[in-house]
Amino acid sequence: MAQDQSMKTMRLYDQVERILNELHHLGIDEDAPLSVEDLTPFDQYHYHGTQAVDEAAHLLGATPQTEILEIGSGIGGPARHMANATSCKVTAVELQPDLSTLAEQLTGRCGLADRVEHLCGNALDKPLGDRTFDAIMSFLVFLHIPARAELFSVCHSLLKPGGSIVIEDYIKLGEPSDKQAEDLRVKVQCPYVPDMETYRQHLLDAGFVSVEIEDMSASWTAFTGERLAAYEARREHNVKVNGEDLTDGLHDFYATTAGLFADGVIGGVRILARRD
Ligand SMILES: C[S@@+](CC[C@H](N)C(=O)[O-])C[C@H]1O[C@@H](n2cnc3c(N)ncnc32)[C@H](O)[C@@H]1O
Repeated sequence: MAQDQSMKTMRLYDQVERILNELHHLGIDEDAPLSVEDLTPFDQYHYHGTQAVDEAAHLLGATPQTEILEIGSGIGGPARHMANATSCKVTAVELQPDLSTLAEQLTGRCGLADRVEHLCGNALDKPLGDRTFDAIMSFLVFLHIPARAELFSVCHSLLKPGGSIVIEDYIKLGEPSDKQAEDLRVKVQCPYVPDMETYRQHLLDAGFVSVEIEDMSASWTAFTGERLAAYEARREHNVKVNGEDLTDGLHDFYATTAGLFADGVIGGVRILARRD
């Protein structure tokens, strides 16, 4: 399991308080109340932003009665959007303390603290004790966790009978060069990536049933390419708001992921699975 300090070699996780710089640039003061929509341009650390969360809500059949666990909740974007859009309750578990603390502050400023609970911890350590949930969602997190048998066994145990999990994650498409393998390990903190059928088998081995896998590879290749182009087009703004070092670091991260998709090394999947 990648520890939280090495996680910072992935520049997406460096200086996450940059979202406050963006809000400041928009004229929103440090302690001012916020709407969820104020944050969504900046707080979704996965592909296709709130659209992906809406699709997860649909797949999970989320209602105001649904209790959802989010594994790897970043600075809280998906959890807040899910709770705001469906009125469900979300428990958001995040490994990195700085991300979790910021997530909790932003959620409080949105007035959502009664519906989104933030917890800092490693999901593999079962920081929730014996609590179980109607559903689990996890966007671009499991790529950081190579211990898949342990991970999916924990996920299975966290679901109530009949509960569902939605996962968005990487899959392996082609053989990486040595440089690409190192970029994946260091800059993307992704030490292991299975192909689609191996992924399916891991879930079946953990006891999941009805494993449905949607291939997102083409869509995520386009998204990461467009994200890179949009970031480059806003370089002047980015340097002004976040400084040159962070801008260059994020540019390198966006270029690295776009390249891994464009070169056919990695693809993506959206998975819906259920426990009996
Ligand atoms: C790419 S970010 C996605 C964050 C969030 N899901 C989103 O889409 O905005 C992946 C997150 O997973 C977290 N993470 C990785 N391994 C974890 C673990 N074992 N337990 C909890 N969180 C983890 C990372 O710290 C990081 O914040």
